[in-house]
Amino acid sequence: MENEIDWNSKRYAETQAPVVEEILKTASDHRHILEERTEEIIANEDLFRSLAPHMNYPRILMDKFVLHIDEADRFRVRMHRFKSKNQNGGALEKVHSHKWDCSTVLMSGTYTERQFEITDVDEERRTCRVVPLLEHTLEAGQMNSLPMGRAHQVINPSDDEACITLFVRGPSRQPHARIYEPESGAFYDTFGPDRQTKLGLRHIGRVDPDFH
Ligand SMILES: [Fe+2]
Repeated sequence: MENEIDWNSKRYAETQAPVVEEILKTASDHRHILEERTEEIIANEDLFRSLAPHMNYPRILMDKFVLHIDEADRFRVRMHRFKSKNQNGGALEKVHSHKWDCSTVLMSGTYTERQFEITDVDEERRTCRVVPLLEHTLEAGQMNSLPMGRAHQVINPSDDEACITLFVRGPSRQPHARIYEPESGAFYDTFGPDRQTKLGLRHIGRVDPDFH
């Protein structure tokens, strides 16, 4: 993946995603590779320390485990667990966009993804229109890719079966991700953990509860 993919392509979905998906599919067809890697991370304390800050577990909707970060951080390989409804208490992921391109192969369970087109953006008033673009339900063995900036929402429709995916994301190429509220058309930016925490600190220091 170091050499085969142009992670700075402006046409990721058309030109790069098919190649990335093929690599992911090969890995998912040889899942002992994944188990060997997770065991290696557990056994190697330095490796664990380097990856652990980028993981998020446990989380309400989706647990995030990082298997590899490219040395130039052009891409990161992760495994996700989208929790079942019984596990997440019926919580629903917000419509959001990412600051990178990404591809996924489903390894167990199913998920439903909704994608949206964002139009009529007013950066001053922080409003837009969130227009449904597509909805598809994917099963184990199927692949999916999402270009940078495309709004989406992933839902695990199962009451009791979690969905595990193998995932790769490219480099961050925008300063922020964005969360959308489809009904009101409001949106706001989100940042990496440190910058987001500083934003929260600024508000709470002012005893201002109105922050995300
Ligand atoms: Fe997402």
